[in-house]
Amino acid sequence: MKLDRRKFIKRILIAVAAIEALFLIKGSVNKVDTKSGAKDLFNAGKASSFDNNKLYPFLTGQFFLKRFEDGGFLAMSIKCTHLGCVVNTNSKTGGFNCPCHASQFDKFGAVISAPATRPLDIFPIKVENGELLIDTRKPVKRASFNKSQLTYA
Ligand code: FES
Repeated sequence: MKLDRRKFIKRILIAVAAIEALFLIKGSVNKVDTKSGAKDLFNAGKASSFDNNKLYPFLTGQFFLKRFEDGGFLAMSIKCTHLGCVVNTNSKTGGFNCPCHASQFDKFGAVISAPATRPLDIFPIKVENGELLIDTRKPVKRASFNKSQLTYA
C-alpha cells in the first residue's frame, strides 16, 4: 500500500512538472522577436480573427482583449485596481466584477461600483503584419476611458 502511495505521488509530481514545462514552452512560443524590436510582446494573433463586440480572455497574458463595435481593440488587465484580485467577466453587462470586494467595471474597464477608484489598467497594443502584439510589461494606469485608448488594425 505504501509503495502505491509513493508511485501515486511520483506520478503527480511528474504530471505537475509536465504541465509546467508546457506552460514554459507555450510562453516562449507566444513571445515574438522581430526585426522591429517587438521583443517580449504577447502575440494575441491576427486582428482579423477577432469578431467585433466580443471579449477574449488571455489568462496566460493576464489580460482581456476586447474588440468593440467599431473594430477598436483594448487590452485590459485582469487585475482589479483595488487590491489586485482577478476580475470575472459579467456576461449581462459585458463588463467585469471583482469577487473580492464587489467592485464592478463596465465594458471599457471603467469603474461602475467602488471600492475600486480607477479603471482596469490597459496594455499597449502594437499591430505588426496584421497581428496584435500586446506589451504586458507596461500596464498603463488611467483615470477614465477615452476613445484614444483604442487600437485599430
Ligand atoms: S480587490 Fe477587487 S474590489 Fe477589492
